[in-house]
Amino acid sequence: MKHGTPPSQAEIMDNLKVICQCKSIKKAAFKKLIAEGADTPEKLRKATGAGTGQCGGKRCGPRLRDMLDPGYNK
Ligand code: FES
Repeated sequence: MKHGTPPSQAEIMDNLKVICQCKSIKKAAFKKLIAEGADTPEKLRKATGAGTGQCGGKRCGPRLRDMLDPGYNK
């Protein structure tokens, strides 16, 4: 039986790091969508439901923008 390559440390961290705490959505889910062509926070929100939690996206919104455009919040 053939096994895939083990996940890298970065992939493991992406599966642990929660970007949208209200909806418990991990960084890996957003990275996958970005790799598939999602290029705006709205697309990421629509695909995952991020931003519809109790905080209304106040916590995850800046993180999503930073994932799309590193340094956006600086
Ligand atoms: S952290 Fe995403 S909606 Fe609150």
